[in-house]
Amino acid sequence: MKLEKAKALNGEITVPGDKSISHRAVMFGAIAKGTTEISGFLNGADCLSTIRCFRKMGIEIENTDDHVLVHGKGLHGLSAPLDTLDTGNSGTTTRLLSGILAGQNFSTVLSGDASLNSRPMGRIIKPLSAMGADIKSLNSNDCAPLQISPSTLHGIHYQSPVASAQVKSACLLAGLYAQGETWVTEPALSRNHTELMLKQFGASITSTVSPDTKHATAKVMPCKELYAQKILVPGDISSAAYFIAAGLLVPDSEILIKNVGINPTRAGILKVCQMMGADITYLNQSTYGEPVADLLVKTSVLSGTTIEGDIIPTLIDEIPIIAVMAACAQGTTVIKNAAELKVKETDRIFTITENLMNMGVDITPTADGMIIKGGSPLKGATLNSYMDHRIAMAFSIAALTAQGTTTIENDSCVDVSYPSFYETLDSLMIFH
Ligand code: S3P
Repeated sequence: MKLEKAKALNGEITVPGDKSISHRAVMFGAIAKGTTEISGFLNGADCLSTIRCFRKMGIEIENTDDHVLVHGKGLHGLSAPLDTLDTGNSGTTTRLLSGILAGQNFSTVLSGDASLNSRPMGRIIKPLSAMGADIKSLNSNDCAPLQISPSTLHGIHYQSPVASAQVKSACLLAGLYAQGETWVTEPALSRNHTELMLKQFGASITSTVSPDTKHATAKVMPCKELYAQKILVPGDISSAAYFIAAGLLVPDSEILIKNVGINPTRAGILKVCQMMGADITYLNQSTYGEPVADLLVKTSVLSGTTIEGDIIPTLIDEIPIIAVMAACAQGTTVIKNAAELKVKETDRIFTITENLMNMGVDITPTADGMIIKGGSPLKGATLNSYMDHRIAMAFSIAALTAQGTTTIENDSCVDVSYPSFYETLDSLMIFH
C-alpha cells in the first residue's frame, strides 16, 4: 500500500465488530444449549479461525451478511475433530479454546501460523495443568502445537503474573468444567468481556478489584449448562483507534465514528487522548451488554504524556497507534510497564521502534516500553508491517501525516481484524 500526506479527513464511519467479543460469542454459543444469534460479528480472519475450529467439532454455524447463528450443543456437546484445529494467527482462539478443550472427553491438537506458534503458551499450560488438565507443548518449547487430552479438572486459585484476559479466560472456561470454584487474580484488571458474557449465558461468575492494590479477581463456579443468547457486538475500539488518531492528527478533520464499544477495561486510549489534549465528544451513550457511544473526533494539538501502571492492560493493543500519536505530539511521551508488547503478533517494541525510526522519529526502546520525543515532522518511508495487522494500520495513519510517500509492505494482514480498513480510510479523504 502506498500512502501520501492527507489534506483533511471528513465523514461518518462505523468500524467492524469487536474482535474479543466476536470470538467469545461464537465460543460460548457453541457450548451453550440452543441457538445464539450474533449481530455485528467481525468477519476478520481471526474470528473466522474460531468459527472454523468449532465447525470441526460438530457445531453448525451459519454466517450470513446479517448475523451469525451458532447452533450450540451444550457444555458437553462438542465432538472430536478429525484432525488438528488450525487457529491461524489468533492468540485468543488458541488460549480460550484451550480452556474449553481441557474439559472435553476427547483429545485435540491446536496449531497456528508461524507467528502464533512462536507466542508463549506456558502462561496457559501452567494454570490449566494445575487444574489437572493434560496439556502439552508438542515441541516442548511452551508454544503451540498444543495437545490437550481428557482429564478431570479441579478449581484452583491462580495468581497470574500478567494481566492477560486470554490467560484469565482460559482458566475461567476450564473452571466451568472443574470440580470446585476457580479463582483467577491478576495484577491489574484486563478486559472483562468473558466475565460479562459468561454471566449473560447463565454462568455463576463474579469479579472484584481491590481498591488498594488494583489486583483483580474473577471467580467462576462449575456449571451444568449455559443457555443461548442474543449478542450485539459493538464496534471495536481497537479498530476505531486508527480513525481517532487520524482525525486528531490530520489538519482540518472531523470524523464521527458510530457505535464504538467503550467498556472501561478497553477504553484506555480515550483516557490517553484526553491526557494529550484531544478534542473527542461522546454522543448517544448507551449500554446493551457492553457500553457504546458515537465518538466525534476533531483535529487537535496533542502533547506528550506518561502512560504506565494499571491503564496499560486497557490499551495494550492500541500502543502502536498511541506511539504514532506521540510522535506527532509536542514533547516527550513515556510508555512503561508494557513488556507484554513483546509477545503480541510481533515484538511490538521492536516493530514500532523500527518503523518510527525509519520515519525519522526520535524513539528509544526500553525493556518494558519506549520513550518518544515528538513534534518533528515525519518522513515518508518504506515500512514493513512484519505481517502484524496493528502495525500495518498504525503506520498507515502515520503515513497520512508524513512528508512524501510511505509504502506499507505486507499490508494484507489488516484482514486479521479489519478487512475493509483501506476502503474506510479512502472514504474519509478530502482532496482539495
Ligand atoms: C485479548 C486479550 C489481549 C489482547 C488480544 C485480545 C482477548 O491479549 O492483546 O488482542 O480477546 O482476550 P492478552 O490476554 O495476551 O493480554
